[in-house]
Amino acid sequence: MADAVYTHGHHESVLRSHRWRTAANSAAYLLGELRPGLDVLDVGCGPGTITADLAALVAPDGHVTAVDAAGDVLEQARATVRERGLDNARFAVADVHALDFPDDSFDVVHAHQVLQHVGEPVRALREMRRVCRPGGVVAARDSDYAAFTWFPEVPALDAWQELYQRVARANGGEPNAGRRLLSWARATGFTDVTATAATWCYAAPDERAWWSGLWADRTTASVYAKLAVDGGHATEEELAAIAEGWREWGRQDDGWFLVPHGEVLCRVR
Ligand SMILES: C[S@@+](CC[C@H](N)C(=O)[O-])C[C@H]1O[C@@H](n2cnc3c(N)ncnc32)[C@H](O)[C@@H]1O
Repeated sequence: MADAVYTHGHHESVLRSHRWRTAANSAAYLLGELRPGLDVLDVGCGPGTITADLAALVAPDGHVTAVDAAGDVLEQARATVRERGLDNARFAVADVHALDFPDDSFDVVHAHQVLQHVGEPVRALREMRRVCRPGGVVAARDSDYAAFTWFPEVPALDAWQELYQRVARANGGEPNAGRRLLSWARATGFTDVTATAATWCYAAPDERAWWSGLWADRTTASVYAKLAVDGGHATEEELAAIAEGWREWGRQDDGWFLVPHGEVLCRVR
């Protein structure tokens, strides 16, 4: 089944997280492949902050095509790119499993934090390869939720991690995608794959406040909260306790949170 429900939705608390992302903090493994004049496809672009950086890196002659399954978030991506004064990006609604582009359309096909949410990641990668020109690269990066680690220990965050796994899987996704990217790339038939890992780490007071606050809000107010309750995975009271756990962690002067990611750069022959 290609069908999967996007676990997070696009509530403000989710976009607060996505809007922090840049090509430097979320696509460093790809930067060496980018140069002016290239055509890039950014799959599952969300609110478009990484998209805008990619567009700047391939300007003035290169273009970014940004697609997402959700039309509403594309409006935000359009606005992000416009605010940056860039005019080399275009946008379309699309499902990564069935991209409406001819074969060999792009030099770089990129997906950040998307394959963990799709029903058939290998089919998605096959489609990404189809639209990538020979000599180009398909690049994917995903976090690995079971490998998230933090200090100090807050029991409610253990409950959060366990609940997140159940909700994401029930929606048809794979929350521990990071460790699987290489195997998915090989199953797709890629033979030239560079697999790496990189992390986000939140420990400064402002980062701690931002990360804990957005997860507290996501836990009670986003699509994820509704899916957790409607699916019978948690009660509203349990979600409120997890949200309070996030706030408790956020108040710790020693608070430290690590988000590991797997990355693959797959060369198209
Ligand atoms: C976690 S967000 C990542 C957004 C952006 N790449 C970033 O890192 O800031 C995942 C995005 O993938 C989109 N998405 C989920 N399933 C998709 C599919 N089958 N095809 C295209 N986009 C999809 C969601 O709508 C969401 O905007």
